[in-house]
Amino acid sequence: MGALFHPQSPQAEAISTLFQYVLLLAAIIFLVVSALVVYSILRYRARPGATEPRRTFGSRKAEITWTAIPLLIVSALFILTVRTMAFVDAPRQPTQAPDLNITGHQWWWEARYPNGAVTVHEIHIPVGRRLLAEIQSADVIHDFWVPQLARKMDAVPGRSAYIWLEADTPGTYQGTCSEFCGMQHAWMRFQIIAESEPQFSAWVEHQAAPPPPPGAGLPAEGARIYQQKCQDCHTRNGPSLDHIASRKILGGDLPNTPDNLARWSATPQSIKPGNHMPDQPLSPQDLRAVVAYLGSLP
Ligand code: CUA
Repeated sequence: MGALFHPQSPQAEAISTLFQYVLLLAAIIFLVVSALVVYSILRYRARPGATEPRRTFGSRKAEITWTAIPLLIVSALFILTVRTMAFVDAPRQPTQAPDLNITGHQWWWEARYPNGAVTVHEIHIPVGRRLLAEIQSADVIHDFWVPQLARKMDAVPGRSAYIWLEADTPGTYQGTCSEFCGMQHAWMRFQIIAESEPQFSAWVEHQAAPPPPPGAGLPAEGARIYQQKCQDCHTRNGPSLDHIASRKILGGDLPNTPDNLARWSATPQSIKPGNHMPDQPLSPQDLRAVVAYLGSLP
């Protein structure tokens, strides 16, 4: 709710303005109707010696008035809404290629950029530039929503939808899935990180580059275990872990610390029950090695 009053993009601003117009109109109607009801209750209440009030039948003037006023109000709302939609909505069949592709999975969000960069939970955008984002789903219906930046958009399996994604000021904006999509729907969180154009370019290039080879010792041992036990799933349908050490959050809402990385690697089911990654029976030594390896993927 608070986000509606603190929009941070031209599109969110337009939605917020429309919301405030509707709220104002609804408040005026509420006050007028309440005042009339209270007036009638007091004016025509039963009193000793009071007669029945006069009844009016078939008043053309009254009929026209109470048809015309609501018609005017609804027309004004209609025009305001259509104008806002024209400004806020991306074309349904855009002629330009999308600037990024966002895919909903149970229960994480993935973003792919044209240069090959792939990220999870944290979507970076350059500040002040309007991006065309393609929204898709890998499994069930999700709904992509960053209240301060853009309208909601359903992610429907087998279809592409498009939104404008833009931020006026640098910062981190909270996003959430807003269509019930199963057990961990509530924790299908993500962040949009808006940064300056040079910072964004550096980030997107870094994310597209292959991670460096693991260092000798524990990270190399971890890489070996990772290839045996994790890699297959994480390249086929699980989230990409390249550059996982550069991310601030894990699993949608967990700070990316070595402790949390170890907890998530070994017992993801106790953190996000029902998620598609099974608990991993790793020895403490193997777990340390895997965490050392993942922690070395900047
Ligand atoms: Cu995805 Cu709710």
